[in-house]
Amino acid sequence: LRALKRVVQLGTVGAIGYGAYEIYGKRHPLEQKPFDPKKRTVVVLGSGWGAVSFLKSINTDDYNVMVVSPRNYFLFTPLLPSCTVGTIELRSIMEPIRFITQHKSRNVKFYESECTDIDPESKTISITDVSDIKGSVSNTTVHYDYLVMAVGADNQTFGMAGVREFACFLKEIWDAQKIRTRLMDCVESAGFAKQAPEEVDRLLHMVVVGGGPTGVEYAAELHDFLKDDLEVWYPELADKFRITLVEALPNVLPMFSSQLIQYTESTFKQNKIEVLTKTMVKEVADKEIKVMDANKNLVSIPYGLLVWATGNCPRPLTRKLMARIKEAQTSPRGILVDDYMRVAGAPDIYAIGDCTFSKYAPTAQVATQQGLYLASVFENLARIEEGQNKKITPFEYSHQGSLAYIGSDKAIADLPFLNGNVSVGGVATYVFWRSVYISNMFSFRNRFLVVGDWMKSKVFGRDVSRE
Ligand code: FAD
Ligand code: NAI
Repeated sequence: LRALKRVVQLGTVGAIGYGAYEIYGKRHPLEQKPFDPKKRTVVVLGSGWGAVSFLKSINTDDYNVMVVSPRNYFLFTPLLPSCTVGTIELRSIMEPIRFITQHKSRNVKFYESECTDIDPESKTISITDVSDIKGSVSNTTVHYDYLVMAVGADNQTFGMAGVREFACFLKEIWDAQKIRTRLMDCVESAGFAKQAPEEVDRLLHMVVVGGGPTGVEYAAELHDFLKDDLEVWYPELADKFRITLVEALPNVLPMFSSQLIQYTESTFKQNKIEVLTKTMVKEVADKEIKVMDANKNLVSIPYGLLVWATGNCPRPLTRKLMARIKEAQTSPRGILVDDYMRVAGAPDIYAIGDCTFSKYAPTAQVATQQGLYLASVFENLARIEEGQNKKITPFEYSHQGSLAYIGSDKAIADLPFLNGNVSVGGVATYVFWRSVYISNMFSFRNRFLVVGDWMKSKVFGRDVSRE
């Protein structure tokens, strides 16, 4: 018992020491070397998973580094669905990019702007300040020696009219905020004096399109919010809330093993989330969608809130670059790169993460590993230039498993084990899910805030105020 007490004491002292070191270190960056005109300039586009992983590892003693992104923060996307219902607050999963750039040995320039064009011939990019506030200059060009594209992907809409106008996506911080506000608007409008019964039904019908992990995790979080909070605070509406998940394929979560697909579908059934498989959305209007159901009938589904999660498509910038080098870029689904992350047809341009189209799924796991790999390529390039004998090996992906939250404190996990796969699901997997994400967060500050949010929502419930 005494030994255990000692371990606990040492653990506590260690944790406090680590926390204090992290806090002090983050708030007090050391002085940085200035840009060196003799060094090559690496321009990084983006501040997401791929870009940040690259930035954390790139040796700025070897290069001048510049970052261009329309958002000045990194977003921990795996916990974004939890923000749509207030289990976690938005700022808890954001990390200012300067918390990373200011800790490099050489100054890293950051421009909050969007790259609108890339000219591989002149090795320049055009950038535009897209914020509401502008100075006297809001468009300029920047020269690069090496360009790292990590701009992610856009929301896939298949060009369907009404999607951008009436549905909510779930990719960015403002998407989660919009969903949270719109959800509470639906609930309060349903409770409005003398509201027509069919309007109450419509307003309280939350429809999610796309049974991939984004749609499933959102439906799961929404279910928890309805059960734990909304039904308590709006007892008069409690039996009217409905969630429907629409999926074109025969089942949800096609990337998971069949037993976890079944487990998810049966958990959703228990939780009264209606799953419409083999059902494809054909039209989107302001109050209803039209779907082709499993029997090939065109059916109208009225909704209050519509969340659209049908996957990725290339961003306009990605398409523009691909059009410039169209002989080499033959896939409409994203940038083609070789095994060294070099963009086919554009010398000195590299691409990582969701903006590429490859044999890998567009996940944070892949983007992170590619960012790390590319930083090591640049390290080796610098050593080779100094005359050292270094070999650049191709990128190899190591799959760490797939996880998803499915509601009612249950998660699913497909984990690689020996040469096979282990599939687990349930409450214990949920504890594992939480611990994996907490340990993968980018900073101690994020971890602290997220754990605090989890405790806060457990003790006080989620906030039902409309923002
Ligand atoms: P992103 O992280 O999207 O970053 C792109 C960056 O480029 C952003 O900073 C953006 O502002 C910037 N940018 C955009 N346009 C321009 C431009 N024109 N010029 C300059 N910069 C630009 N994956 C997992 O592995 N596990 C999960 O649990 C998981 N959960 C997810 C949950 C949700 C809700 C979502 C939406 C995704 C999830 N993913 C998960 C997928 C994961 O988020 C993506 O695969 C990952 O973000 C891809 O990283 P990226 O760096 O390619 O792009
Ligand atoms: P996705 O591409 O994985 O799934 C989209 C789904 O929408 C597909 O199943 C598709 O059949 C369906 N669909 C498309 N058009 C439709 C229509 N008109 N009507 C009905 N259904 C339609 O997209 P998602 O979920 O946004 O994920 C994108 C990427 O991010 C994936 O690679 C995914 O693995 C990753 N991700 C991973 C998470 C995790 O690991 N927990 C969580 C969220 C995303």
